[in-house]
Amino acid sequence: MLVSQGCKLVGCGSAVPTLKVSNDDLAKIVDTSDEWISVRTGIRNRRVLSGKESLTTLAVEAGRKALQMAQVDPDDVDLVLMCTSTPEDLFGSAPQIQKALGCKSNPLAYDITAACSGFVLGLVSAACHIRGAGFQNVLVIGADALSQYVDWTDRGTCILFGDAAGAVLVQACDSEEDGLFGFDLNSDGDGQRHLNATIKENEMDNALGSNGSVLDFPPKRPSYSCIKMNGKEVFRFAVRSVPQSIESALEKAGLPGSSIDWLLLHQANQRIIDAVATRLEVPPERVISNLANYGNTSAASIPLALDEAVRSGKVKAGHTIAAAGFGAGLTWGSAIVRWR
Ligand code: ACO
Repeated sequence: MLVSQGCKLVGCGSAVPTLKVSNDDLAKIVDTSDEWISVRTGIRNRRVLSGKESLTTLAVEAGRKALQMAQVDPDDVDLVLMCTSTPEDLFGSAPQIQKALGCKSNPLAYDITAACSGFVLGLVSAACHIRGAGFQNVLVIGADALSQYVDWTDRGTCILFGDAAGAVLVQACDSEEDGLFGFDLNSDGDGQRHLNATIKENEMDNALGSNGSVLDFPPKRPSYSCIKMNGKEVFRFAVRSVPQSIESALEKAGLPGSSIDWLLLHQANQRIIDAVATRLEVPPERVISNLANYGNTSAASIPLALDEAVRSGKVKAGHTIAAAGFGAGLTWGSAIVRWR
């Protein structure tokens, strides 16, 4: 089936945990300071899951708000894409979110794992489903709870991350109204050594044979290690690759850099955001940034910042946004989109 229809972003929503953890709070558990963190990263607070909150409750709240803004009934959603690297089920969280949203027609729902690039990948995947396969309403959710994989004794990483969810509703439209102008997606497995949370064997599970040797069967149950990162290398990679990716997406869209109303990068570090904006000659007043309040929320950071910018009236209908994600994998990518 070859369908030639366009797609556009028609709703957004977000949700964050209630527990706020400030830089001063962190200085009580690791050797750091508000000054060091805010000067090096721009981060002042982050939100962390607590109590009955979960990745699913955040994702459902963000998804529901996006559907409300788009005035789309949950029954009319025909695909839920859950972009996350921290699912609550090994087999994926998306179907539980589809159920909790009350999508009674049992639409397809699946997870996309691409760390901090996950949301951009989800956006492009939504467009492919709509343009190429006739889907009508695709809910793209970016949600992560990296606080669960942070080593809270490592001051080099624990200061960076927070938990959140953000969502957009991507809807089919006439091809002349298409709102995804161009995109660029990449990965480089060689760079995985700079940023990862790999599986490790659970040593408690080692089964001993009758002669005291470790048996190879049944296999040992693995668990994930905490996030390990070479901050300097990741910084260098982001500042080098993200401008190239946005330039490539602009070229595919046939648009000049001056057509960008808003630069919306994955919220990892204010210094990265500033360096990319300078490279692309985007003035500070056209750069969206909210990482001071939330830190790096991985796949959630772009839709969370978009939602705040839309609801505060900054981003208006018809504005062109250059969005770019980058992170573990390594993965990176960008999309040039129009808001509504
Ligand atoms: N407080 C105080 N001192 C610290 C802290 C801290 N929280 N962390 C590190 N330091 C110290 C180091 O020990 C080191 O001390 P030394 O010189 O005595 O050895 C010094 O500060 C410099 O450390 P660096 O790691 O070199 O600091 P850098 O300037 O590179 O900043 C940072 C570190 C903020 C992490 C930066 O490298 C960065 O932001 N990198 C990009 C990270 C990123 O964007 N990650 C994306 C992840 S997305 C994903 O997919 C999960």
